[in-house]
Amino acid sequence: MGIIELKQVSLSFEEQQILFELSMDFWEGHIHAVVGPNGAGKSTLAHTIMGLPDYRSHTGDILFAGKSIKELSIDERAKLGITLAWQEPARFNGIKVREFIRRAGDKSRGTKSPEEVLNMVGLDPGRYLDRDVDTTLSGGERKRIELASIVAMHPKVVLMDEPDSGVDIDAIQSIFDVLEWLKEHGTTVIMITHSGEVLKHADHAFLLCNGALVDKGTVEQLSSYFERKCVPCTHKNVPDEEALV
Ligand SMILES: Nc1ncnc2c1ncn2[C@@H]1O[C@H](COP(=O)(O)OP(=O)(O)OP(=O)(O)O)[C@@H](O)[C@H]1O
Ligand SMILES: [Mg+2]
Repeated sequence: MGIIELKQVSLSFEEQQILFELSMDFWEGHIHAVVGPNGAGKSTLAHTIMGLPDYRSHTGDILFAGKSIKELSIDERAKLGITLAWQEPARFNGIKVREFIRRAGDKSRGTKSPEEVLNMVGLDPGRYLDRDVDTTLSGGERKRIELASIVAMHPKVVLMDEPDSGVDIDAIQSIFDVLEWLKEHGTTVIMITHSGEVLKHADHAFLLCNGALVDKGTVEQLSSYFERKCVPCTHKNVPDEEALV
């Protein structure tokens, strides 16, 4: 049994169907990758599991530890220990990096200090702790600060939407360090990625295409998707069988 289970989840916006009967199991303490071309529905899947307001009208069911969370609000899901790291993280005026990370931390579980988590993501605490979490931070810096806050939070399940996007090649190791730390500490990771390198750090992978699950399996199996460069898809709503065999 997965800690998060999707049962035939379909979602439409107005007339257009975006997700098609997705049934997926995400196992506890594993790193799962979700890959697929632009517009495949990967972010939509993450937003639906998190229960964002526009994404609550799906059919089918979503279970957390065997119980339906379909009727739960985003805050109620967050209280269960589910969190989402955005593809493009928000910035907040008037809050310092130190405070942002402290607020994310769960003291009851012995959280790491803001200094420790910044070091983990390769940012010098001396330079960043007193910066504002606002538009003066670059996209890559903001992304790494969000990753740092996730380590402090130590959630049960984290949905990471392209943790590597906008992060330079030197900093990519810090993402792997965070993934390893989360896995060692029992967090279930569901990460969306376009990177074959990041995919290698997953235990299991799913391939989405045009809102449908077209393949799942080991990282080795799904790596062929990158090797065969099945991007962008040349088809509409029909998996490209030849590219996947
Ligand atoms: N709130 C919304 N209203 C209408 N359409 C939406 C909404 N959110 C997503 N979509 C559409 O759903 C489809 C899937 O989008 P999604 O953002 O999930 O793709 P993605 O796989 O994350 O792509 P990318 O790799 O570019 O991030 C797209 O066609 C998008 O335009
Ligand atoms: Mg996306």
